[in-house]
Amino acid sequence: MKVYLKDGNIATKNLNPGTSVYGEELIQEDVEYRIWNPRRSKLAAALLNGLKNLELDDASKVLYLGASTGTTVSHISDIVINGRIYAVEFSPTTAKKLVQLSRQRPNIAPILGDATKPKEYMNIVEKVDLVYCDVAQPTQTELFMKNMNLILKDDGMGMITIKARSIDVVQKPKKIFKQEEKKLIEKGFKIIDKVKLEPYEKDHIALVVEKNF
Ligand SMILES: C[S@@+](CC[C@H](N)C(=O)[O-])C[C@H]1O[C@@H](n2cnc3c(N)ncnc32)[C@H](O)[C@@H]1O
Repeated sequence: MKVYLKDGNIATKNLNPGTSVYGEELIQEDVEYRIWNPRRSKLAAALLNGLKNLELDDASKVLYLGASTGTTVSHISDIVINGRIYAVEFSPTTAKKLVQLSRQRPNIAPILGDATKPKEYMNIVEKVDLVYCDVAQPTQTELFMKNMNLILKDDGMGMITIKARSIDVVQKPKKIFKQEEKKLIEKGFKIIDKVKLEPYEKDHIALVVEKNF
């Protein structure tokens, strides 16, 4: 994955030079880089915390669930320059910004849709190398598996960020993470990497999974 170290921060090469997406700093060198803020993007937090096994190259196809206004999507767009990101977001207000972003970045295909109903968009997306899930909802693991079962290539990967408090505000985060991991394993997924997101995000974990069948 093409991620660069700049002044102690991680950064991606700006696919759309001269434009900052969410107020991030731009660094001019031989080419332009965008600082990737781990307090705004859980994928950046996971990478800074040592996530290793996520494979993304310049031709990767990604299904992104919970795209919001496109903060993390924009950095993935810098990485998969010749690939495609199918970015699913269910809030029409939020998706407006995502649509604007996709006009500047041809590798982003915005989808106004509900990630709990992948059958409604599976015909307009192709099989992908990575399903990335950051919806912060109680049933996020279930919808993540549903999307992987329908849209992930057999040799593809999934990544989910789990916010313990979105699932249960009372239970200890450790117990919730175990419970969500168990759901994945019981449905035939293998967890190949796991990192906590502190100090950038409290009580969050990121899991990378593969199909195990
Ligand atoms: C934590 S935010 C995502 C932040 C984003 N991933 C980023 O790093 O830039 C969660 C997003 O998921 C969206 N969302 C929640 N449930 C969803 C669903 N069922 N289908 C699609 N989007 C959903 C919310 O509207 C919100 O924009």
